Amino acid sequence: MAHVDETLAAYEGIAARYDELNARMDTSSLVARFVEAADRYGSGGRRLLDAGCGTGRSSVAFRKHGFEVTGYDLSPAMVAAARRRPGAEEIRFLVGRLQEPPPGLTGFDVVACVDVPMTYLTDTDQLRQALTAARDQLTEDGVLLFDLNTIGYYRRMFGVPTIADRGDRYVAWFAESPRIEADAVVITQFDLFERNGAGWERLSMRHVQRHHSERTVREVAERSGLRVVAAHGLVGTSARDPADEDEHDRILYVARRSDLTV
Ligand SMILES: C[S@@+](CC[C@H](N)C(=O)[O-])C[C@H]1O[C@@H](n2cnc3c(N)ncnc32)[C@H](O)[C@@H]1O
Repeated sequence: MAHVDETLAAYEGIAARYDELNARMDTSSLVARFVEAADRYGSGGRRLLDAGCGTGRSSVAFRKHGFEVTGYDLSPAMVAAARRRPGAEEIRFLVGRLQEPPPGLTGFDVVACVDVPMTYLTDTDQLRQALTAARDQLTEDGVLLFDLNTIGYYRRMFGVPTIADRGDRYVAWFAESPRIEADAVVITQFDLFERNGAGWERLSMRHVQRHHSERTVREVAERSGLRVVAAHGLVGTSARDPADEDEHDRILYVARRSDLTV
């Protein structure tokens, strides 16, 4: 199966329970870091495209910060959940891929890709397609913001098989290849066991992601008509500077069109 089809299958399978299973993810705080970057590096315009919007958690969080939001995602089931989300009534949601977004999405002051959708682009060609598409979606002085997992995060999280005991729920995960290299694909198997009466139910999924190093991101951005203007480290959802590929969990990248004249 192509990597993108595996990603689609994983999110289609989990969509109905995504919010409940990811309740520990503090999307509001993560979005607050994106908004700080938009305020610092952007034009001040409020038209925002939430690319890889999932069930709309990031979209509604941006709406609360006063942005006029459009969202799109690879998974129709995630988008259906987003359309039902309280607070999302004024948000337009579409289905589409970062590499080939729905047509007609232009003139955005901010394009945001929150909680690592771009890690599912498993080669530099796909990354280039996604960055080129984002560039074309921006106004001349718009800003692209996206977070990516660091190599340190992949190694800490997936380097050894792990089991989390959450009472009536066990979550087990491991990377298929225990050696996690820079700029390499990381395939992770997740198994969720939940008590169901006297027995246990199992839900399995594979996530196929890629580590994109800062060097790769900068090079591919350049080839896509963008310039990376900042890279901020994140530990959890707290900002840390300067960004560190080993110490930090993620890097929040800020890019602008390279044809910007001012
Ligand atoms: C961890 S979720 C984050 C969702 C949302 N931004 C949030 O903060 O709650 C990652 C999302 O990226 C989407 N995604 C992965 N690969 C994608 C692609 N190639 N194009 C569009 N969306 C993609 C998935 O379907 C999933 O909804």
